[in-house]
Amino acid sequence: MEFMDVIRKRRSVRRFKPDPIPEDVLEQILEAGRIAPSGMHLQNWYFGLITNDDLKRRMIDIAGGQDWIATAPVVLAICAILVGDLKDAAEDDKNLLGNRFRYGEGLIDYLNACPDRKAMRVFSDCNDVLIAGQQMLLAAENFGLRGCWIAYLDIARAGDLLELPDDIACTFLLPIGYPDEEPEPIERKRRDEVVFHNTWRSR
Ligand SMILES: Cc1cc2nc3c(=O)[nH]c(=O)nc-3n(C[C@H](O)[C@H](O)[C@H](O)COP(=O)(O)O)c2cc1C
Repeated sequence: MEFMDVIRKRRSVRRFKPDPIPEDVLEQILEAGRIAPSGMHLQNWYFGLITNDDLKRRMIDIAGGQDWIATAPVVLAICAILVGDLKDAAEDDKNLLGNRFRYGEGLIDYLNACPDRKAMRVFSDCNDVLIAGQQMLLAAENFGLRGCWIAYLDIARAGDLLELPDDIACTFLLPIGYPDEEPEPIERKRRDEVVFHNTWRSR
């Protein structure tokens, strides 16, 4: 498909045919994630392939009862490798410096005081995986497959279910498969509603 057609046609789908995803197609989808850009080129991700029916069913509850998940032949578990705790970082640590630069020292001090360190690390490290996941979702669309992001997820319980080590968190799910529904057309904001030129004053 033409690149812009893939982008334009992509829709979230929440019901799938039982047809399996061919191995070579799955490989190319994973490749699209593997080569995604990441901050400082850390590539801090893992892509879990959940194909076990029992595991898929147990994910439903962890995703707030989204039972359509289990109809997907493959549920991608989009996982972040958590970098070290910012609280323990050396003063010249690039990640600490970058976060201070972006958000200001006050917020970093506040986050460092939060007692739930695991939650804080997940919170600050779950961004790059979105880019890898979207590349995989678009690759899936290109092969006639569809999927849907799932952020409504109990990240701690997902980690337990997938038996992840402590420094890896499953931050999103991406069920994919051959669609068994055609979503209703959807309204998008117009271009002039989402674009500004140079400064905000141009609006
Ligand atoms: C980061 C992110 C998280 C999302 N989480 C969920 C979710 O937990 N459950 C769900 O049904 N859809 C979820 N969605 C799908 C959105 O509802 C969907 O993208 C939006 O309604 C626009 O529809 P479209 O994807 O068909 O263009 C999520 C989408 C994104 C980008």
